[in-house]
Amino acid sequence: MNVSSSSRVGVLGVGKIASAVVRGLSRTQPAPSIVISPRNLERSAALAAELANVEVAASNQAVLDESQVVLLALRPNDVAPALATLEFRANHEVVSFVPTWRYEVTLERIHPATALSRATPLPPCAGHYGAILGYRLEGERRRLLAGLGSIVDVRQESHLHYLWALSGLITPLYAVMSELADWTVDAGVSRETAEQYIAEMVGALCAAKRDAPEQSLASLAQEAATPGGLNEGAHGQLSSMSVYSAFRRALDDMLPRFGEAAPHRANGD
Ligand SMILES: NC(=O)c1ccc[n+]([C@@H]2O[C@H](COP(=O)([O-])OP(=O)(O)OC[C@H]3O[C@@H](n4cnc5c(N)ncnc54)[C@H](OP(=O)(O)O)[C@@H]3O)[C@@H](O)[C@H]2O)c1
Repeated sequence: MNVSSSSRVGVLGVGKIASAVVRGLSRTQPAPSIVISPRNLERSAALAAELANVEVAASNQAVLDESQVVLLALRPNDVAPALATLEFRANHEVVSFVPTWRYEVTLERIHPATALSRATPLPPCAGHYGAILGYRLEGERRRLLAGLGSIVDVRQESHLHYLWALSGLITPLYAVMSELADWTVDAGVSRETAEQYIAEMVGALCAAKRDAPEQSLASLAQEAATPGGLNEGAHGQLSSMSVYSAFRRALDDMLPRFGEAAPHRANGD
């Protein structure tokens, strides 16, 4: 990736995801010059002290004035008040990480800028792991985020929302793994061994799917279930306890925030 200095990156909102993105961008060669908003000065200053290519701006407006590509990393409720006081330029390029702000609504708030994308980096992008969903991700914005992980283009905004909802299950997925670790530790295994083994096991299952994209997740599940074996028994037990459909319900419950309706159940469940 080659990011010229004329495409200096500005970041509005320096929290968890912005910190990960800034760290990830700073590992690309050559690292782009990045200017970040001053709110939470302790955190912003620590990031600037850690990374030679990062500077803290005097204000949010200074972030815009000193940058070409602007990353919007504010919580949804903070977007309107923050943008109300800011003046964008027509040649700004903006990438919004805000899940519940639709494209057209965000576009109105960044006038006169017209180059807008939506994207969903996740914290592992700090180490360049994982995929980033991109909606209308073009030009310098695309080149920049491609340095953080593989881009998965999504053409319909509603599809972006359904895929984005999945990232709302990161905490539950880690919590499931943590529960498995706790159970193993209760049996006397060291936490280090249990957590490392669980991470390797889950990582290997994901790698198997990545290496055989044509094989469905359902068929991988089926293949692992030896008749009368451990997996078949556990799967049947968890299904009868509605554990899997509880995940669907959690996803359904996120959708009003995106302004979307629950998908039609293929099995009518
Ligand atoms: N975390 C993720 O994995 C992830 C992934 C993709 C997208 N996102 C989205 O990215 C956005 C940020 O998420 P986050 O998890 O990074 O949240 P966060 O850790 O709470 O960070 C948001 C930051 O924005 C700051 N802020 C609020 N108002 C501001 C203003 N007017 N000017 C400058 N900074 C302001 C907040 O400061 P205060 O704390 O002082 O209010 C906070 O430091 C959200 O819309 C989220 O849904 C998050």
